Amino acid sequence: MLSGKIKLRGDKSISHRVVIFASIANDISTIKNISNSTDVNRTIQILKDCGVQIKKNKDKLFIKGTSSFYSKKEKFYCGNSGTTARLMLGFLPSRGVSGILYGDKSLSKRPMDRIIAPLKQMNIKLSSPKETLPVRFKKSIPNPINYTLKIPSAQVKSSIILAAISLDKKSTIKDPFNTRDHTERLINFLNYKNTFYKKFKIDGFNYTVPGDTSSAAFIITAGILTPKSNITIKNILFNNTRTGYIRVLKKMGAKIRISNKKIIQNEPTCDINVKYTSKLKAINLDKNDVIAMIDEIPIFSLVCAYSIGTSTINGAKELRYKESDRIHAIVYNFNNLKVNIKEFNDGFSITGPNKLYSTSINNFNDHRIALLGETIKIINNKPLSKDFKTKTLIKTSFPEFYNIVGDLR
Ligand code: S3P
Repeated sequence: MLSGKIKLRGDKSISHRVVIFASIANDISTIKNISNSTDVNRTIQILKDCGVQIKKNKDKLFIKGTSSFYSKKEKFYCGNSGTTARLMLGFLPSRGVSGILYGDKSLSKRPMDRIIAPLKQMNIKLSSPKETLPVRFKKSIPNPINYTLKIPSAQVKSSIILAAISLDKKSTIKDPFNTRDHTERLINFLNYKNTFYKKFKIDGFNYTVPGDTSSAAFIITAGILTPKSNITIKNILFNNTRTGYIRVLKKMGAKIRISNKKIIQNEPTCDINVKYTSKLKAINLDKNDVIAMIDEIPIFSLVCAYSIGTSTINGAKELRYKESDRIHAIVYNFNNLKVNIKEFNDGFSITGPNKLYSTSINNFNDHRIALLGETIKIINNKPLSKDFKTKTLIKTSFPEFYNIVGDLR
C-alpha cells in the first residue's frame, strides 16, 4: 500500500523553457522548484557555457540575463535531452553563438530533420550530414517565418519561436495539433500578448515551477494499481495539453479527485488525490488523445494490462522516435511478461486483465521505460532496483523517485 501527501519538483518541460527565457531577461530572475533532472541540468550547463551567470541554491536558481552570449567552448553536450538539443538549435545561433551540439548514443539516433528544415528556412546555418546529432551551427541572423507544424512536436514549435523572438520582424507559427503550450504561456506571462512573434523586452522575473505532471503519472499509476493506496500530490501542473492521461484514467474508472485548482504564472495547477481502483475498464485512444499524454504512454500500457477488456492505441507513431522506440520497448517487455499484447506500426492493443509473471524488464536505456519497470515492482510489492545504471537513468527526468516511493511505502 502507498499512502501520504507529496509534492514533486518542477515540470521538466517548463523548467527548460523558464531558464532559457531568464537567460535573455534584462535583470536577475529567481526560479523556484526548478526540476533537478539531468535533462534540465544539460540546458542549464549549456547556457552557462555561453556566458550566462546561473547560481543554484537547493531548488532555487538565480539567473542573470544577458544580451551578449559568447561560446566558451566549441562543443555543447545535450546528454539524453531531446528538448535541450532541439530548443538550443533554434536559440543559440540566433543569439550569436556558433558551435556543435552533440548527445549520448540514444539522442544521436533521434531525428533532427524536423527542426533543421524549418530553421534552415529561417536562414539559420546548420549542418549535419545525416540530420541527426552532432549538428554544427553558426551564428545567424534569421529571417522571419510563417510556419504551420507538420508533425505534432512542441519541441519543433518552441525552437522556431525561440529563433523568431530574436527578430524585429513578425513571424507566425501555427500548431494544428494542440501540442504542449508552455512556451506560449510563458511568453504571455512575460507580458507579450500578440499572436505573432517578434523581439520583446523581458524584465527579470520570479517563477515557481509547478510539479511535474509526467513524473506524477508514475506515482498516480502506482496508487491506482496498489491495493489500499491513497495518495495526494500537491501543486501539480494541470495544463490541458498535458493532462490527457488523467482524463483517460478517469474514463477507465480510476478513483481520481482533483481539487485546489489555481492558475500560477499563467499555468493551471491542482492537487490530485488517487485511490486504489480494483476494476478498470479498457479504452481506445486515437492520435488526438495521444498528443496530450505522449510521455505517459509507457505507464498507460501498464494500466491497460490490468484493465478488463481490450485497449487499443493508434496514431502514436511519434513514440518510435523517443529516447527509445517506445512501441517496441513496451511490446518486447510485455511479451516477456506474458501480457496479451499486439503491435501495430502506430501503436498496440492489450487485452486484460493480465497476471504479470515477472517484474524484471529491459529498459532499453530509456528513463520512462525504466520508471515503468520500477512501477511494476511497486505494485507487486517487490524491492526497487539497486542497480546504479537504472537509478542514473531515472535521474534523466525524476531524480526524487526513490525517495518519494520510500516516503509513500
Ligand atoms: C517536449 C515535447 C515532447 C515530449 C518531450 C518534451 C517538450 O516531445 O515528448 O518529452 O518539452 O517540448 P516532441 O516535441 O518531440 O513531441
